[in-house]
Amino acid sequence: MKLKALAVLAASLVLLSPAFAGPAEGRTAGPPKGSATGSGVTYDHHSLMIGGRRLVVQAAEVHYFRLPSPGLWPDIMDKIRAGGFNAISVYFDWAYHSPKPGVYDFTGVRDVDRFLRTAERAGLYVIARPGPYINAETTGGGFPAWLKNVPGRARSSDAGFTEAYRDWLRHINPIIARHQLSRGGSVVLYNAENEYAANTDAAYMQDVQDRARADGIDVPITTNDCCDAASWTSTWAEGPGAVQLPGVDDYPQSFDCANADTVWGPWGEGTTERLRDDIPVFAAEYQAGAIDGNNTGYDGCRDLTGPAYMKYFYKSNLMVTGATAFNYYMGFGGTNWGWLAQPNDVYTSYDYGAAITEARQLTRKYDEFKRQGYFLQAVAPLAKTDLVTGPAAAVAADNPAIGVVARANPDTGTRFALIRHADGTATTTDSATLTWTVPDGTYSLPVQVKGRDAHVLVGGYDLGGQRLAASSSEIMTHASIGGRDVAVLYGTAGSPGATILRYSTRPDVRVLAGDVRYAYSPDGDLRLDYRHEGLARVLVSGGGRRPLLLLLGTDETAATFWRAGTAAAPILVRGTSLVRSADLDRGTVRLDADTAAPGEVEVFADPGAARLRAGDADVPVTRTPSGSLLGRAPGPREARLPTLTGWRTHDGAPETAPGFDDSSWRTADRATTESPMKPASGPVLYADDYGFHYGDVWYRGRFTATGAETAVTLNTITGRRGQYLVWLDGHYLGTAAGGVQADSDTANPAPGPGRFTVPAGLLKPGHTATLAVLVQNMGHNDDWTADDNRFKQPRGLVAAAVEGSTAPIAWKIQGARGGEDLPDPVRGPLNTGGQYGERSGWHLPGYPDRSWTGVPSPAGRPLAPGVTWYRTDFRLDLPKGQDVSTGLRFGGDVPAGCRVVVYLNGWNVGQYGGDIGPQKEFVLPAGLLHEHGANTLALSVTVKDRTPAGLGPISLFSYANVRGGVPVADVPAPAYPLPGTR
Ligand code: GAL
Repeated sequence: MKLKALAVLAASLVLLSPAFAGPAEGRTAGPPKGSATGSGVTYDHHSLMIGGRRLVVQAAEVHYFRLPSPGLWPDIMDKIRAGGFNAISVYFDWAYHSPKPGVYDFTGVRDVDRFLRTAERAGLYVIARPGPYINAETTGGGFPAWLKNVPGRARSSDAGFTEAYRDWLRHINPIIARHQLSRGGSVVLYNAENEYAANTDAAYMQDVQDRARADGIDVPITTNDCCDAASWTSTWAEGPGAVQLPGVDDYPQSFDCANADTVWGPWGEGTTERLRDDIPVFAAEYQAGAIDGNNTGYDGCRDLTGPAYMKYFYKSNLMVTGATAFNYYMGFGGTNWGWLAQPNDVYTSYDYGAAITEARQLTRKYDEFKRQGYFLQAVAPLAKTDLVTGPAAAVAADNPAIGVVARANPDTGTRFALIRHADGTATTTDSATLTWTVPDGTYSLPVQVKGRDAHVLVGGYDLGGQRLAASSSEIMTHASIGGRDVAVLYGTAGSPGATILRYSTRPDVRVLAGDVRYAYSPDGDLRLDYRHEGLARVLVSGGGRRPLLLLLGTDETAATFWRAGTAAAPILVRGTSLVRSADLDRGTVRLDADTAAPGEVEVFADPGAARLRAGDADVPVTRTPSGSLLGRAPGPREARLPTLTGWRTHDGAPETAPGFDDSSWRTADRATTESPMKPASGPVLYADDYGFHYGDVWYRGRFTATGAETAVTLNTITGRRGQYLVWLDGHYLGTAAGGVQADSDTANPAPGPGRFTVPAGLLKPGHTATLAVLVQNMGHNDDWTADDNRFKQPRGLVAAAVEGSTAPIAWKIQGARGGEDLPDPVRGPLNTGGQYGERSGWHLPGYPDRSWTGVPSPAGRPLAPGVTWYRTDFRLDLPKGQDVSTGLRFGGDVPAGCRVVVYLNGWNVGQYGGDIGPQKEFVLPAGLLHEHGANTLALSVTVKDRTPAGLGPISLFSYANVRGGVPVADVPAPAYPLPGTR
């Protein structure tokens, strides 16, 4: 949200050679292999090389901590790989693993070893990004909140911070190290720090790298520079603290999801800056979605960064800068479950408008990634190109509305031409004749560009056993299958296309489908002319080359193809919703595929293949004139979800009662704090100083009344979207909004004021009055500017006084049970806050709620200020061998003044309410959701004003139901009682 520079790393294409078929094409082929010596990862001006082979890196950012169901990790990895990616980029979130200084957990949903193994098995390279600082809209930007209590500026070489981050790196680095290429894994780059551009400290930057090396990291170290380096201190490309292979972040579309229709590149050209001559251009983070800071909803973010943006910006970046390494942020966003979110920019969903939705569904953006990613992986010469300008470019359009950028591979002579509007903002459709001189001759090609579109054309290219002189269609992919080449080319529906192939003698041409004219000229050119419509098929044989099946499609029909590797040769598949992997064994093609509905499936495989099995179904097939197998794959069975009934309810704020027993609570009497924001008077009341870092915090304050009290004045800091509620002697005084990051300024240490009138006669002289204050902690500020004023901004009460009284207030504080000593390490430090129900295990399966009041539904039940809990149980038995992506939907309008924490089987899967965000649907991920058994849903509802209408209807629904999916085991987690909660 600040950025404006960019970067792309790149991708490679050596994938047709046996050593690389694995990583690009599927988990069946095993992990990528490194070189025998060193890290196996090298680079030069043009690209990264793995085992000496050039590679265009096409990575999707994905965060394991945003999908707390390890059984679903393979699903995401399969989808990423099948979408044309050959790598993932992943942050490691320190806060997620460490509840307390010196305490680390890498098990269960935190098992990053398993995550990296899953990536290896999926055949995906990994860019590992362990920070220590990660940003990523996570609470504290990945810093554990206990770090707020550590002396020394964060992101500097101050002693306290140094000791802390070294301990984190000492834990995380060895795990990453053992998954490096050199040790049989797939980690190929290590990202030190994150957009470390303000308040920088080179000694710290260097030490992060030195630690990595000492801990066994041997791959090149990179970092992601941000935001037009000129205004910042360092790009870390040279000088003290420099990294080997710096990259650049770029978010050219901004985060204005509300204006997706009109926004077009407000934050720059989006062409990744070259930082040094000896390294490839690396787009360390390139925008592939957006955070929804304005509460528009992620559909707007998906539109903002949709296929038009992807075509224009991604292809421009590839062609203008020659970037060969790209990491798209995000590939799959996931969920800010628990208290994972940084409060200022995001709410529960981190869908991000990404290509793969939070509910794990594929989108139009996925289709565009697939078209581009398959191209990058199929056309090897893209990994080494130079810009060609002036007369040497030898390419021109006869319409000035259309601009051309030319590149060439200096070794193979292959030519690339980017065709787009000269004025990138144009929205018209323009046509031209392109005159292009390639090694094979000079050709005239019809080209057409829609508004905000771009095409990368290829000429002078050895396409398998063919020679492609030039084409005005784009290449999606091609493969050598069973002694012939199969190529998928495509263009905008309705636009003209021409493809010229070279033959030494007149080939035999058969147009199997579509309207394709062709002519062979004696100098060896076979020219095909056509319009991009549906899927045309042309079989070319003879002519001195092996046969070619040319499939000429549109954007839409091209996107129906899947490519998967088998031990023998790749297989192309058309028609299913997803192909995870394929295998050919004794004449039978086996597809691990998902199907959303019954429908046609067509397989282009070795001619020896005669039978087809898709998932668990034998699919009868016939052989088509194209030589493919054609059949009809079955769809899923219906999946029924139960109605949620049999709710039970209970009041959830007994702390408001004057007689409530708080004897076990901590006394809040500390005199000093590490926060740069010091209390103006009285003791330090900040929650973090007492070890209560996440979720709600209760305060109870006692003072001797005189009867002259007129008002209570309080001040809290909650982070954006937070509030606090105040009671005096059990009487509700009211509510106010808590202070937010924007106010983080030592000059304004009291940014969340509230003044609450004391009703006349409420307090009697000499009586001990009790204040009860429920403060929401919405999460911790990030530390993007490396400024402790921002990161160490307190949470909780920061000032308290009673007007009309000079009596001291004796405070007690209670947050999440156990504070930094977790009673439930499985669900971890971010799962629960300090509400009574959370401390008592009301969110857990098995809690004995029989004494609670039975109600048919929470819907329509009036709510009083305070906290109310609801619980219900339901059973599921979803069809086996299917993936039913399930969610919880709150019907009606999103209520203002009311916030609901949703617990599924004890896991905090979201927060709902108008003060929080626009979200009405919450993903219930399989694994946390028991798809074949009993489930418990618990809702804690905090209301700040009397709400007669209550909540709307609450129901289960499915985002999608496909035949296929991956097997997902329930995530083991304790039921009630946790130790110490009975
Ligand atoms: C970048 C940052 C990422 C993420 C992104 C916005 O500046 O490196 O971690 O915060 O912006 O989503």
